[in-house]
Amino acid sequence: MKGIILVGGLGTRLDPMTRVTNKHLLPVGQFPMVYYPLHSLVDAGIRDIMLVTGGNNPGAFLELLHDGREFGLDHLHFTYQREPQGIADAVRCAQHFVGDDRCLVMLGDNILAGSIRPFVESYLANPVGAKVLLAEVPDPERFGVPQFDDEDNIAKIIEKPAQPPSSYAVIGVYMYDQLLWEILPALQLSARGQYEITDVHNAYLERGLLSYDIIDFGWSDAGTSESLFRATQMMHDSDFLPVVNTTPSE
Ligand code: G1P
Repeated sequence: MKGIILVGGLGTRLDPMTRVTNKHLLPVGQFPMVYYPLHSLVDAGIRDIMLVTGGNNPGAFLELLHDGREFGLDHLHFTYQREPQGIADAVRCAQHFVGDDRCLVMLGDNILAGSIRPFVESYLANPVGAKVLLAEVPDPERFGVPQFDDEDNIAKIIEKPAQPPSSYAVIGVYMYDQLLWEILPALQLSARGQYEITDVHNAYLERGLLSYDIIDFGWSDAGTSESLFRATQMMHDSDFLPVVNTTPSE
């Protein structure tokens, strides 16, 4: 399985902190933000990883991470999203890297306080389809929100609903098979001018091919000053920290 980490976008909700740098380079506790998703993928056993860069300072990821050796990797791959046209568009930039394989996509501003390895293993045990991960949150209106049917299957996912149909958020960890590459070219731009990842998941749902798991550990996005603060607090108290083989100097 290939791993894709999305680290583009302009991070406008964190202006002025993101005016001259990339959101995913901002500190979350003792590490730059991008270290956390990279650690999540490596911990899950994924060793072929591409970063989709864009926005401000795309070259800084190469300067920071080099070939991924700090994470025990042999190499890292990088590509570039020309326009910030949404998560689904950023994923499309990595199609050549995924090839015939399946892939796990993680948003570079999602911070997890536990391992996704069991969810990746259960996904890979299915021969086809996609999987999303859910977390119970106090503010679902900020996220993609699942609506459940009577059998607790997801009926549909609504992006940032004014009236959330449940108290769950679809977190930024997605697993896909090859159907993804048929769905992506058929997407339409949303009202906010983006190719929405929620539309991809609803297309999988229409075919009966979307499964989900609910995570049982802390999760936060870090795209606003409030959530960045929450993510920093969460990782301050967490044992699930990036394992890197060089110690930062004092
Ligand atoms: C994006 C997705 C949303 C998801 C969230 C997780 O939102 O569109 O479905 O719940 O990431 O962090 P955005 O951060 O682009 O507002």
